[in-house]
Amino acid sequence: MSAEFLCVVAVSLVVAVATWAAIHKILRRGQPQLVLLMPRKSILSQIVSPSSYSLDDFCKQANAFQFKAFWYFNARMARWCAHVSHPDDVSTILLSCDKGDAYADVSLFLGSHGLLTLPLANAEYCYQRRKMQRAFAPNLVRGMATTFGKHASALRNRWLAKTNNGSIVTTVLYYDISESLVAALCEISGFSIPSSPSIRDVASAFRRAAAAGHRRSVSVFGISLSRSGGNNSKSLEDATQVIQSFAEKIVALSLPSLDTGCLLSRICDEDSPDSLSPARTQEKRNQVLDHVKTFLFAGFETTMNSLLWSILLLSNDTGLQTDLAAEINSAFPPSLTTLDVSHVDLIRSLPLLRGVVKEALRLFPPAPIIFRTVGGSSGLHLPHSNVHIPSKTVVAVDLFSMQRNPTAFPNPTSFCPQRWQHECNISGDMDKHMAPFSSGARACLGRDAAMTELMVFIATLVQSIKFDPLRPHLGGDNDCIEYMKTHHVTLAPEFEGQPLRLKISQRIVTP
Ligand code: HEM
Repeated sequence: MSAEFLCVVAVSLVVAVATWAAIHKILRRGQPQLVLLMPRKSILSQIVSPSSYSLDDFCKQANAFQFKAFWYFNARMARWCAHVSHPDDVSTILLSCDKGDAYADVSLFLGSHGLLTLPLANAEYCYQRRKMQRAFAPNLVRGMATTFGKHASALRNRWLAKTNNGSIVTTVLYYDISESLVAALCEISGFSIPSSPSIRDVASAFRRAAAAGHRRSVSVFGISLSRSGGNNSKSLEDATQVIQSFAEKIVALSLPSLDTGCLLSRICDEDSPDSLSPARTQEKRNQVLDHVKTFLFAGFETTMNSLLWSILLLSNDTGLQTDLAAEINSAFPPSLTTLDVSHVDLIRSLPLLRGVVKEALRLFPPAPIIFRTVGGSSGLHLPHSNVHIPSKTVVAVDLFSMQRNPTAFPNPTSFCPQRWQHECNISGDMDKHMAPFSSGARACLGRDAAMTELMVFIATLVQSIKFDPLRPHLGGDNDCIEYMKTHHVTLAPEFEGQPLRLKISQRIVTP
């Protein structure tokens, strides 16, 4: 054996050991007991365009691995993340973990004092959450329905005026509906609406800020790619300014005539209406503004998308719309202009209407994936997957895939509101697989208000308006997946890259 040969073997051995050690070190950050790479297309799509992720790919992976946890490389966070989509794993994570730094991009435009971004262990969070929860007590939510009914009727009347003489018109649902929903949200929260910036500008600012914040937080192997200048920072700055100015004007306009007990008075935490006079500290003012921005974002973008998805899914099934309209007519006449509490209870008890809302939330949860970070020092054991998740790991909680699990939902991709009728859900297995509002300590604060709002809006609109798609539906199973557009935090329906448009006409009621 020559000396050169021994030398080559020795060098190769050293290189192999060094490479192995380096790979091991990188992988140890993600504890690869179970390292399963995403398909190349999806990894590539995250690296090339890190602002988008393919929900469809996640769902296929979840199915392929029978809803067991798997690991994937998250290019935006530049680390291995665990992905969970089985209800037992999901509930373990949601009950035991907080957000960690997974939402740093959202704080860029919502600030760090709001409920979405404050950590659970923070005393301020616990105090604010308890206080604001009282503004959503069941009796107060019932009262909100009158406000939702008023704004829904106004929208219906605007559409009826457009479709005068039985004509069929095309409308951009996003623009029409966003104004009504923001107006309703502001009214129930005690926010007066400023005349500028316009609601459309604010709605679009939230989406631009989410996109720019998301891009800014992209890093590669721990090195942040954020730039202090450039178009992205400018876009984030401009959008944040629009949102900030809207929130500041809301507070300035609302304080002089604030109702005690409304959300804003709880946020301000003062008995006296001029609590935010110049004498107040800047810090308190910033906290109040962050809460106002958080409620606008959390309460509008989500209900907006749920309502759009519900109407889009209904537009593909004329028979279902007719059945739904008949169910609603049996509860109250289309001529009704003001809802009182007895109508609210009736509306909320209509089985097909409730099924439509739940089924739209199942197929297209407005927050399709939420993130948590494992705390403590010993990590967490996932019972269903039998996987140990180390401390500090970010976990993607994939509500989208969980809610399309075929063991709980036969024909999981078809829109079938009837599946929510009692006899199909006798074991409660479907409910176990549903968490569009998340669960645990950080579950949505506005859940009941949102469900009531969606039911009142859909009931009022479908009773008088018929919705039709712009073109015959092309997707399989009436799923509408081809309309899916992820806006970083939320999931919206769009048509050919534009806000959703549909045909509307007056509903002719047959006796
Ligand atoms: C269909 C409508 C809605 C859906 C699907 C929805 C969904 C969610 C989800 C999934 C979360 C948890 C986010 C996370 O942990 O990352 C959340 C949190 C939250 N939502 Fe909603 N939401 C809706 C409507 C509303 C409304 C109408 C309001 C208020 C008026 C609201 C206020 C909040 C707040 C304040 C939080 C933060 C709670 C906390 O961390 O303590 N949401 N929502």
